[in-house]
Amino acid sequence: MKKVLLFVAVILIGLGFAACKQDDGKIVIGANIYTYGDNFMNGVVRPELERYAEEKGITLDIVDSENDQAKLNDQVDVFISKGVDALAINLVDPAAASTIINKAKAADIPLILFNKEATEAGVMATYDKVWYVGTDSAEAGVIQGEMMVADWNLNKATWDKNGDNKVQYVLLKGEPGHPDAEARTTESVKAFADAGIEVEQLAIQASTTWNTGEAQATMQSWLSNTTFGDNIELVISNNDGMAFGAYAAMEEANIFLPLYGVDALTEALTMIGDDEMNGTVLNDGVNQARATLDLAINAAQGKDVTEGTDWVVKSDGTKAVRVAYVAVTKANYQDFLS
Ligand code: BGC
Ligand code: CA
Repeated sequence: MKKVLLFVAVILIGLGFAACKQDDGKIVIGANIYTYGDNFMNGVVRPELERYAEEKGITLDIVDSENDQAKLNDQVDVFISKGVDALAINLVDPAAASTIINKAKAADIPLILFNKEATEAGVMATYDKVWYVGTDSAEAGVIQGEMMVADWNLNKATWDKNGDNKVQYVLLKGEPGHPDAEARTTESVKAFADAGIEVEQLAIQASTTWNTGEAQATMQSWLSNTTFGDNIELVISNNDGMAFGAYAAMEEANIFLPLYGVDALTEALTMIGDDEMNGTVLNDGVNQARATLDLAINAAQGKDVTEGTDWVVKSDGTKAVRVAYVAVTKANYQDFLS
């Protein structure tokens, strides 16, 4: 009996190893984007994941989770059954990290979460082979806020339409519960308070997505709002995708208000050059993609995740590599046009 068990065990281990690498011996990373409908994730991060995977000579198996966490859970099961060497996962629901971590842990596959940081307390400590790659969410809001304060001070004579020394703003928030949406919302507005400038929030949109079309509809309704439509002095958008929607609505209404985004998508850079947007904040998706794969490749080989790289994993319990944000204005936008 013992011999039979040993035999079965040897076969299983053999199969396990065989499944690990492709026939060509390349490392396989199973990855997803939470939705291919996201301007930033699909337009910046995914192309760089694909390009960098090629540069690194690994196989990237990447899928669209269509903004459906249940779908992502199934996709992870499939990756695990295929025997991928590491997982690079962009959560749909930032509160669902434990589900993914438990799956990876049960299969003993290293896991890199990227772009949407887990919100469940303590969850990163539940598995020694999970790490996060993203940003310091608050930093984008701080930078955006500082840009807006500086511009307000310069342009107050025209921007303060009702001359009450207060900033009447509307804010396009993005996905509620997303650490980036929450922190940007708080920090950008706080910058005014820190500079001793009073603000008044006329409206805030927490859509379920970060989407252009929804933001356009919202901005249309705000501009035509009979109570505050004429009083808006500033449009704060937590990403460029929504800022594009806001701009489209302003163009239709022929009302042009100061407008700020985050991400520094190419279209936003062009709009800054054309004075259609006032500023944005570079969300460095290229380096986030590279860090994600660097960590995944190292982990797949059982190496220290940062070996041979310049990435730094925070030792504060978040196990995060945080790529810096950069302010983008008319003064420097050309530096970011590739
Ligand atoms: C980006 C947004 C994007 C979101 C997706 C954020 O970091 O700024 O544009 O929609 O990530 O999770
Ligand atoms: Ca005012």
